[in-house]
Amino acid sequence: MHSLRQKASEWSGIDTADAFAIDDNNLFFKLSSTFHQFLHQVSSVLSQMGLFWNSISCSFLLIALEIRVYNDEEEWFRSIFANSKKEEAIQNLYEFFVERMGGPTLYSERKGDPALIGRHRPFPVKHQAAERWLHHMEKALESTPYIDADSKLKIMKFFRHTAFFLVAGDELKNQNQRVP
Ligand code: HEM
Repeated sequence: MHSLRQKASEWSGIDTADAFAIDDNNLFFKLSSTFHQFLHQVSSVLSQMGLFWNSISCSFLLIALEIRVYNDEEEWFRSIFANSKKEEAIQNLYEFFVERMGGPTLYSERKGDPALIGRHRPFPVKHQAAERWLHHMEKALESTPYIDADSKLKIMKFFRHTAFFLVAGDELKNQNQRVP
């Protein structure tokens, strides 16, 4: 696992410490402060609904990502997702994201350990696929309202590092398969 992280850092250009800067502060709740500022302007009663609004922002992000991924113009990339239902993919990634950013443990309560390398085993997660997936994530983040620039950067570094962690896991899987 240690060398997979090293490879992920080397290939992604993101240090492990930078990738996991999302853990320094609870981003899920930090994002809600931006909502609160907006909500306070609208009404002090609505400000009680911060958690509700940051959930909307997270779901907006993952819906935007999956719409882009499932409609990618490149057939080779779209085909990776061909046997997965978009609605389930959105729910999986939304719950994982909320939990990983410090929100309620939705993913692990429903599905258990994320075990990302194992769960991506059926899919060819190569360098090119990682870059394409990250491109969609970057665009989805750009289009998501009420996430401040610093949080966007931290989120992107986490995803970039993890995407290449998956590429390293995929390479390991292929090496093991080649053993007679
Ligand atoms: C699931 C591909 C990166 C987290 C999936 C699925 C595919 C896929 C095809 C199945 C769809 C579903 O039913 O959920 C890829 C590709 C990536 C990538 C090509 C490019 C690097 C990432 C990254 C993360 C991630 C960076 C998290 C940081 C997940 C999660 C699931 C998932 C949580 C749901 C797993 C499950 O519950 O079965 N991915 N993924 N993926 N992916 Fe990725």
